[in-house]
Amino acid sequence: MNEYMDMLAAYGVTSARPGGKLMTNTIFEKHPLKKNSAVLELGCGLGDTAKFLVDKWNVNIDAMDINKKMLQKAKVRHKREKNINWIVGDFTSYEFPQKNYDGIVAESVLSFTNVPESLKLLNQRLNNDGKLYFLEPIYLGGLLDKEIQEYKDFYGFQHLYTENEWKEVCSSKNFSTIDIVRSYDIPEIDGTDNVFPELVIDNNLNKKHIEILEKHNELTENYFAYFDFAYFVSKRQDN
Ligand SMILES: C[S@@+](CC[C@H](N)C(=O)[O-])C[C@H]1O[C@@H](n2cnc3c(N)ncnc32)[C@H](O)[C@@H]1O
Repeated sequence: MNEYMDMLAAYGVTSARPGGKLMTNTIFEKHPLKKNSAVLELGCGLGDTAKFLVDKWNVNIDAMDINKKMLQKAKVRHKREKNINWIVGDFTSYEFPQKNYDGIVAESVLSFTNVPESLKLLNQRLNNDGKLYFLEPIYLGGLLDKEIQEYKDFYGFQHLYTENEWKEVCSSKNFSTIDIVRSYDIPEIDGTDNVFPELVIDNNLNKKHIEILEKHNELTENYFAYFDFAYFVSKRQDN
């Protein structure tokens, strides 16, 4: 697993995504889930979004993360939650039981994977009228190849897509985009990352974790002008 994710797990960052809870609240306000429906969350981290969806619609949610420490912390944090089935696993190779979902949620996860292959897999796991919700960085252009490579290498991103490229890759894997909420659609998100997430920090944070956090802060500041982020809602094209 990459060092950036290990750092997020060590600090126990509860909203490890741009826009945090504001983005999540906005998208699900606009595109609610069905009550009691079956949901899959990929890369659930500390599990706060899973808990939010259970509280709001009483969904039954399979919440999966590849990082064991993240899931250990999530289980402790939401230990009373009966509707969340925690799964440690890599969703790209996980043998899903023959089960489809009404909603699949991935907040700041897909870019770490081979996106065309992930979308193909998710299309097969979604019910006919189900929706895929995903939050991702949007590359705005203007960086040198070596700068893009530095950014990708640090985070372990396999792709840095523009908004159009996201729409194209979705379309090529039989998803139609039904909505996009960008950071600037939400006035409370002013670009200064003013909402500091709650942390569930390890007792034994080491020097490496601190260095990785500092490097993340430096990259965020240096490359601020070249990226936005957006939440996409898609559904299967054959519907
Ligand atoms: C940037 S964090 C976002 C965590 C959480 N969604 C949030 O918004 O707070 C990315 C998460 O995706 C998980 N992840 C990355 N690749 C994964 C994969 N192939 N399968 C399952 N989880 C994955 C990481 O372990 C990490 O917890």
